[in-house]
Amino acid sequence: MTENRQSLSQNRREFLLFIAASTVIAPATRAWARQLAASHDSLPTNPKDLLQVMDFEEVARKALPPAHWGYMATGVDDDLTLKANVEAFKHIGLKPRRLVDVSHADLSVDVFGSKWETPIFVAPVSSQLAFHPQGELATARAARERRHQMILSSTTSTSVEEVAKAYGKAPWYQLYMPRKWEDNATLVKRVEDTGCPALVWTVDTLAGRNTPTLIRFARQDPRDCVACHFNGPGTRIHEPMYEGLSNAGINPPEATWEYVDRLKKITRMKVLVKGLDGGDDARLAVEHGADGIIVSNHGGRATETLRATIDCLPEVVEAVNERVPVFVDGGFRHGTDIYKALASGARGVGIGRPYVWGLSAFGQEGVERVLEILRAELTLTMRQMGTPTVRDITTALIIRAPAK
Ligand code: FNR
Repeated sequence: MTENRQSLSQNRREFLLFIAASTVIAPATRAWARQLAASHDSLPTNPKDLLQVMDFEEVARKALPPAHWGYMATGVDDDLTLKANVEAFKHIGLKPRRLVDVSHADLSVDVFGSKWETPIFVAPVSSQLAFHPQGELATARAARERRHQMILSSTTSTSVEEVAKAYGKAPWYQLYMPRKWEDNATLVKRVEDTGCPALVWTVDTLAGRNTPTLIRFARQDPRDCVACHFNGPGTRIHEPMYEGLSNAGINPPEATWEYVDRLKKITRMKVLVKGLDGGDDARLAVEHGADGIIVSNHGGRATETLRATIDCLPEVVEAVNERVPVFVDGGFRHGTDIYKALASGARGVGIGRPYVWGLSAFGQEGVERVLEILRAELTLTMRQMGTPTVRDITTALIIRAPAK
């Protein structure tokens, strides 16, 4: 397998050098190929050589063309909410208990009556063919192999039916709601017919967003994007989940809480709302029938709120008051980060960019390695903290720095 990857890597480097030397190709494209070939020389070829999740970021950056890297890396405005998500963990300390029997650890949690072997889930990330030729199929195979819950994005580059085959069962499905309700009903039925047990409606980008980092990187990319982006760089691509619908667009800006009631009426799937960060909205979500909440700011890609999701979580947990499970994502890069969310009342923790770094750098094996590292770190943290089961983890074991 490693040999195979090495020879693929060698082929890729030779191809880049060929482009760099070709006189019939535009100078900017040749320069770009030269730069990629040079950075390629220093890329590790075995994901096992990478020790921490953050080690994957740089490898992914080198492996991707600038526009696709920018699409993943971008936040909104000045990217400060994205940064806040990651930084906030540094202001929460751990208070371990000693001399507890920690010879074993059990990471499992109960979610809607099913047992998840670990609380770490794969968050929905769109257009994964932009990161690796096997895209969502590689992610699904990795999640299956490592036994993690996967949520598939509506703007997946691979259909839910194909992903379900690769995953071994239907994943949870993230909904970007089509603007026309009839289209929405058709899509929801398709997802339900595939067997997806849960529908996760993302509500934090209904009015659009401002992503200058993405645009800056895209401008450095000399490739001809119209081959994939029909209407030019940065526009939408082939989206199999919207095929056959009216093409009226997604994310109805007029949507209100009534839409949660309406969604509940047209499906037997569990309905979760993703993209809340405050107690008032969490209360409304539960009142309108949501079966679960994902505290999220879209990885700092929705609104420049400057509020880290780990800091928003306690308010939501308190408002929900155990009526439905609360999940969280945004900035999780270490086992200790995940531990802090569990201690704050999260039932599960979503990972976005880290597994996409793994995917971009190494395909399925890279996703697996990222999941392996996070699971190992969480296991170690739970044992070192004297809390061998998730039930043992309480807020008493973390200390938040007082708000400034
Ligand atoms: C996302 N995210 C996202 N969320 C969603 O509900 N539907 C989607 O299609 C996408 N697509 C997407 C693409 C890319 C490139 C990224 C980085 C993120 C948000 C994602 O589900 C999750 O909320 C964040 O990624 C979590 O933050 P971290 O782990 O990336 O810091």
